[in-house]
Amino acid sequence: MTIQTTKKVALINGPNLHLLGIREPEIYGSVTLTDITNRLTSQAISHGIELIAYQSNHEGAIVDFIGECGLLSSDPVDGVIINPGAYTHTSVAIRDALSAMDKPFIEVHLSNIHSREPFRSHSYLSDKAVGVICGLGDMGYTMAMDWFIKHLN
Ligand code: DQA
Repeated sequence: MTIQTTKKVALINGPNLHLLGIREPEIYGSVTLTDITNRLTSQAISHGIELIAYQSNHEGAIVDFIGECGLLSSDPVDGVIINPGAYTHTSVAIRDALSAMDKPFIEVHLSNIHSREPFRSHSYLSDKAVGVICGLGDMGYTMAMDWFIKHLN
């Protein structure tokens, strides 16, 4: 059976998140990014949403991707789930790209960025996000998709 998708959500993961599952599992857990992407794809599809997943270790590439699936697209995504990794704490460029896109986005972190080194407490994105989920491990991505399922349909 083919399910018609009418809405699109981008899932963007930043630097080092391709290493999930083997990277500091005591902080980030043992679930891989492929597991998370597969789970969110099925979750989205069963509610008529197409998931477009992207991971990059490069700030400019993430900015390019946000432009390409947003303002430069004839069929832009309706929302974004983003874990910007370390760029959370440094990137005005990713903030500007998301602001330019003007679609709701949810910022997700596997770890609780407020209980770690002080420099992780500041995010360049949070005040622009519709919501921020941190500290709940890979479940945070599922919760973010649940929000889009409820608000896009
Ligand atoms: C992270 C937290 C960031 O501080 C860190 O640089 C990451 C992952 C998280 O998911 O907990 O790479 O975004």
